[in-house]
Amino acid sequence: MARVLLRNLNKHYETFHAVKDVDLEIQDREFVVLVGPSGCGKTTTLRMIAGLEAITSGEILIGDTVVNEMPPMDRDIAMVFQNYALYPHMSVRDNMAFGLKMRKFERAEIDRRVKIASDILGIEALLHRKPRQLSGGQRQRVALGRAIVRNPQVFLFDEPLSNLDAKLRVQMRVELKKLHERLGTTAVYVTHDQVEAMTLGDRVVVMKDGWVQQVGDPLELYNNPANKFVAGFIGSPGMNFAAVTIERDGDALWAANPGMRVRVPDAIVTRLGPHSGRAATLGIRPEDLHIAGPADDAGHCFDAHVEVVERLGSEILLDVSVGPSSMVASVPPTVRTKMHETIRLALDPERLHFFDAETEAAI
Ligand SMILES: Nc1ncnc2c1ncn2[C@@H]1O[C@H](COP(=O)(O)OP(=O)(O)OP(=O)(O)O)[C@@H](O)[C@H]1O
Ligand SMILES: [Mg+2]
Repeated sequence: MARVLLRNLNKHYETFHAVKDVDLEIQDREFVVLVGPSGCGKTTTLRMIAGLEAITSGEILIGDTVVNEMPPMDRDIAMVFQNYALYPHMSVRDNMAFGLKMRKFERAEIDRRVKIASDILGIEALLHRKPRQLSGGQRQRVALGRAIVRNPQVFLFDEPLSNLDAKLRVQMRVELKKLHERLGTTAVYVTHDQVEAMTLGDRVVVMKDGWVQQVGDPLELYNNPANKFVAGFIGSPGMNFAAVTIERDGDALWAANPGMRVRVPDAIVTRLGPHSGRAATLGIRPEDLHIAGPADDAGHCFDAHVEVVERLGSEILLDVSVGPSSMVASVPPTVRTKMHETIRLALDPERLHFFDAETEAAI
């Protein structure tokens, strides 16, 4: 087991700069998830760690060894791909054993490791089958088994669950989490699915356009996003954003647009002060909105026009328009509201986010 260190890592494909100055320290036994939209450089970063892609500049260390020039075979990592990459003509057993045979392991040791891995994954009964005789979830387990038998210092996963149906993904996600707990191997996991990132990662690295936007544990990213991109990317349904102007009125600050006028809580007046008279983006998560009641301060309430009512069973999502902004509010299933009604919503003032209108950095 080992830590993985990325120092000022860059990748250029001819003129295209795909990975930009990535600095990241992944601790021994840590499960780190790289997440971001398509094309943001996740796979490229992972392939550079694996040695499958040459790095343009920077440094990669596995343990205490700089591996920049080391061939993949010698890096003591095992990678699990999205498409499983199983050999179709080999049995499950031979697929799992192949990497060890290539590395000249003794027959008895190979058998021992295949047995342990297939026990862990519950695929003992499938060892004689060919990949085409397996379901998607079973193939995925074999691909994991092939990585586990290697007993590597680091696991690298590139969207290993994305070919599975929604239910199986959730199930395999739980299994992966248990597997990591049991094996304790350092893992770097790539996904574009923020739910997967939040549930699997000890820490999550959010990327966009080749840049790391923020690194943090899941709740840190959720509660204190560094910028508007992270705020919008993490969480489903996503954070609501409204373009507002920060107005000063005596000692108080208000965030206003033609649909709402929200009193800025005292705790952040000082921080927001320098922005008064300027444009900003107000962010509020769907669950931090509720139907206004007598206890709500008028400065935290506004009218909303209901466009769509989505009844999900455990909650109702109200798609509403508030002046020029569209918002989603998550309310309890007992709320009775119909399309085209005008309702009064209140927000939780402690849970407001503000972003600079130009830089999009959190204020
Ligand atoms: N061999 C290549 N030559 C040129 N450009 C490439 C090459 N491989 C990747 N890229 C570009 O580098 C960028 C990052 O690609 P990468 O595969 O790392 O994205 P990703 O974050 O894994 O996306 P996805 O979620 O779609 O898998 C993309 O814009 C891609 O088009
Ligand atoms: Mg990718």
